Amino acid sequence: MVDIHCHILPGIDDGAKTSEEAVEMARIAVSDGITDIIATPHTYDGLYSQRTENVLKSVQDLQQALGREKIPVRIHPGSEVHVHSELIDHLYSGQILTLGNGMKHVLLEFPSVHFPLFSKRVVRQLLDRGITPVIAHPERIEVFRLNPSLLREWIEQGAIGQVTAGSLLGLFGRTARGCAIDFVQQHLVHVIASDSHHVRSRRPELSQAYKALATIIPEEEVEMFRYNAQAILHGKALQILTPLTKSKQKRWIFF
Ligand SMILES: [Fe+2]
Repeated sequence: MVDIHCHILPGIDDGAKTSEEAVEMARIAVSDGITDIIATPHTYDGLYSQRTENVLKSVQDLQQALGREKIPVRIHPGSEVHVHSELIDHLYSGQILTLGNGMKHVLLEFPSVHFPLFSKRVVRQLLDRGITPVIAHPERIEVFRLNPSLLREWIEQGAIGQVTAGSLLGLFGRTARGCAIDFVQQHLVHVIASDSHHVRSRRPELSQAYKALATIIPEEEVEMFRYNAQAILHGKALQILTPLTKSKQKRWIFF
């Protein structure tokens, strides 16, 4: 499995604090069946502004530490970029890392309770340049929960949605879980990621979320989610279904 959103790099955002914790996160990920992790430190979110060279170096250092510990997982560079008005300039000047550093997919984080006016322009600019915006965890963002049409409009234009594994498992509460299920059933999210920050809560695991997914959509659609994580890693086009305007009959997860 590929995890496209994980705060595993130590000491550069609110994720892993130390190299030891990052190694432990990687160990947990491997136990869960994860083979590749895209490291996505917060960038331009008002608290953290990463330097690309530092992120690349941190990826290299962590990979070497994992090699010494014989933990078989590949770490790839990336970032979780807070939407901001100069995003395109920062992207083209090399100040923002795309997912897998392939200039194909950008993981975009939005504020929870307000919608910046420049958001539509930024998403449009990315799409016009052939770079796919990956909207991070819309089920945990009130703006999208209350106005799913905002998300649907972007998905119809070519953006994709990333649901958090823990949301499907109820770790963020009933509201986020219900919304995650709705977005899955309406084809508004297309890839699962852990968004892991630590070894305890929100662990770097995906397998339980894939099992949960299989209780609400057909197996062939679950396979699309698996494929899409690989596709993002390799800079390929994703498999997506046309968004639905209304949720199908809900089949709640019980396990
Ligand atoms: Fe994140």
